[in-house]
Amino acid sequence: MSAASVIADWSAPNQERARRLLETYPEERSAVMPLLYLASLEHGYLTSAGMTQVAQLTGLTSAQVQSVASFYTMFKRDHVGRYLISVCTSISCYLLGADDVLAAVETETTARDGTTSVDGAFTVEHVECIGACGGAPAVQVNYELVEGVLPEKATALCKWLRETSPDVVMTDAMQKSFGGVRSFDWGIGEEQGAVAPVPAFGPYGSTGGESAR
Ligand code: FES
Repeated sequence: MSAASVIADWSAPNQERARRLLETYPEERSAVMPLLYLASLEHGYLTSAGMTQVAQLTGLTSAQVQSVASFYTMFKRDHVGRYLISVCTSISCYLLGADDVLAAVETETTARDGTTSVDGAFTVEHVECIGACGGAPAVQVNYELVEGVLPEKATALCKWLRETSPDVVMTDAMQKSFGGVRSFDWGIGEEQGAVAPVPAFGPYGSTGGESAR
């Protein structure tokens, strides 16, 4: 079966992205992870059908694809809200009040850790270290990082997301409004943010912002 016929039900832009991803790697199986993100975007989360399609595209078995998808927590196997709020609760963040940050997020979003709010706006999760220990407590919105987040700022961040419903979330803008101490001066300003609860990369079609317009 040709790649085109395997994903004939995908949107035309995502079919084109899949074609380019498959061309990027010398071996098609190496494209399994970006294709899993693309399948997540196409279906809203990583469905069984999406994993079967990725297996057919890459020549891997369904079991091999499932073993990759189940190993990495960023591949979501259930519906995800428009904004995925990930609160780091590992040691540096924990010592600086991550539990209170998580509680503030749960209260404001009405979604308990590991669940999605009834209105579908938020999914809340606690995560292990996201590599921003110097800026603890750290939070991500659709994998866009915000550092030095205090509970009241976490509440304000969630309120802002609900009230303004931004199509794109950008680290720099959120850091300025809701962040505190940063792990270091990042230097280069951000031009693209995330448009969905998957990592923001152009090949996935999951970026938005100034240079994406
Ligand atoms: S412990 Fe939270 S970012 Fe490392």
